[in-house]
Amino acid sequence: MICCNSVVPYNKLQWYLLLCCFIFLTHGENISRSDFPDEFLFGVATSAYQIEGAYDEDGKSLNNWDAFSLSPGNIRNDDNGFVANDYYHQYLKDIELIRSLGVDAYRFSISWSRILPRGRFGDVNPDGIMFYNKILDELILRGIKPFVTIYHFDFPQELQDRYGSWLSSLMQEEYVHYAETCFKNFGDRVNHWITINEPNLFTQMAYQKGKYPPARCSQPFGDCAAGNSDTEPLIVMHNMLLAHGKAVSIYRRDYQHEQNGSIGIVLDCTMYEPLTDSDLDQEAANRGLTFLIGWVLDPLIFGDYPSEMRKYLGNQLPQFSSAGRKLITNSIDFIGVNHYSTTYAKDCLYSSCSETANRSISGFLATANERDGVQIGEPTGIGSLPVVPRGIGEVVEYLKNKYDNKPMFITENGYSEPQAEGQGQDPIQDFKRIEFHQMYMSSLAQAIRDGANVRGYFVWALLDDFEWIIGYRIRFGLYYIDRQTLDRIPKLSAKWYQDFLKNNTQKPGIRISELVHYKADS
Ligand code: BGC
Repeated sequence: MICCNSVVPYNKLQWYLLLCCFIFLTHGENISRSDFPDEFLFGVATSAYQIEGAYDEDGKSLNNWDAFSLSPGNIRNDDNGFVANDYYHQYLKDIELIRSLGVDAYRFSISWSRILPRGRFGDVNPDGIMFYNKILDELILRGIKPFVTIYHFDFPQELQDRYGSWLSSLMQEEYVHYAETCFKNFGDRVNHWITINEPNLFTQMAYQKGKYPPARCSQPFGDCAAGNSDTEPLIVMHNMLLAHGKAVSIYRRDYQHEQNGSIGIVLDCTMYEPLTDSDLDQEAANRGLTFLIGWVLDPLIFGDYPSEMRKYLGNQLPQFSSAGRKLITNSIDFIGVNHYSTTYAKDCLYSSCSETANRSISGFLATANERDGVQIGEPTGIGSLPVVPRGIGEVVEYLKNKYDNKPMFITENGYSEPQAEGQGQDPIQDFKRIEFHQMYMSSLAQAIRDGANVRGYFVWALLDDFEWIIGYRIRFGLYYIDRQTLDRIPKLSAKWYQDFLKNNTQKPGIRISELVHYKADS
């Protein structure tokens, strides 16, 4: 159906036959909506910079990603988010797509540079406020719950130029001002706030590997113009945790009671499994989880960094003052879990590894996708994210045990095809994506039956989008975006999700016999 750039949408009968065919081939994964608790929320997710475009319209200033993508070579194919999916102009159409899927909730983020183009150095941009007000009103009108991420990797470039953004403690106040602007203007309609998306991944990508703006790093991690890969990620995280804590305390003091919402943070929750059965590798896997997840959640729940991190990082790890500790302790109402994949961990305390794995900032462990010549999971479009369905259950189980079963939402889970466009796969017939979600959902449903307090699941992503440094070549969407026309074309997975959400009383899953009555009605 897709040949080079020409896209012919399927008719209803074709959709129906394709779905039948898929379910026959996969024997129908035994998962249905009724495998989840009644009040469980299903949703789709996006983030501002990845879809909005309109990078210099209506008062929006240049942000860190706009500036970064202006330098050739930073982003694959020199793509950028200047137009992205033109969601800024087409959001009504997209909200209608969201509604037609039948989801309960929509996770999206606010563009900092759209509502505060100069941060604290300038005024609030009324056009930016109006844009998000319209989105919120449309969602509420359609009965879709907004899950709003305040900060998802993008901020006004001026804050970088003036004082180095997150490397400076000034950024804490900047963030608080921004977050409060959001609470004040949007909080009457938002019941779920997310302060920061994946501070653990961002610090690593931006300040250790130097691949995200501001592209700072040092040897042996990378070859950047400036930076220190051993210390800067720790400073940046410290500033982010304190910024989070300050914003949450303002929310709780001035807004939460009246607005009746909850507030949490979203983390990259990759699962670690030991490479071998040895105790050392088992410890390395635990250490991996501590350095990735405990780094953020221990401070925000217990009030300090994990002692194991302190043991290896010593004074490189910043200290919280007693006031800071008070501020951050118990500062989340829920944990947002972004989970895509699982990796093996190998001990590097007692065996020699690569130069980077041997560093304390890496937790003295190496990661691998292969054990005894066998891959941990089928590859996807991103090398570090093979398909390992059991991992979502495992990571949720880990969080349940470690953090007293605090409420959790799977805020992102998604699949990107391994092959680039034009290499033989029809991106519309995305059987693999359906299979991915079915398998991950099955593992999650089991963890919930085993007592994990997971309250919702968001597919990443609603639309194919600007995938940061990978640009547009890798696609995660339920809807295909034709890059020439920006048309939104439903993939088979969109139909599948819609159907999954409709058949909320059926168990086990949708079957061929039931499909005889299936109406592909949109
Ligand atoms: C980020 C998303 C991103 C996704 C897939 C997550 O790390 O939060 O913005 O698109 O992974 O790469």
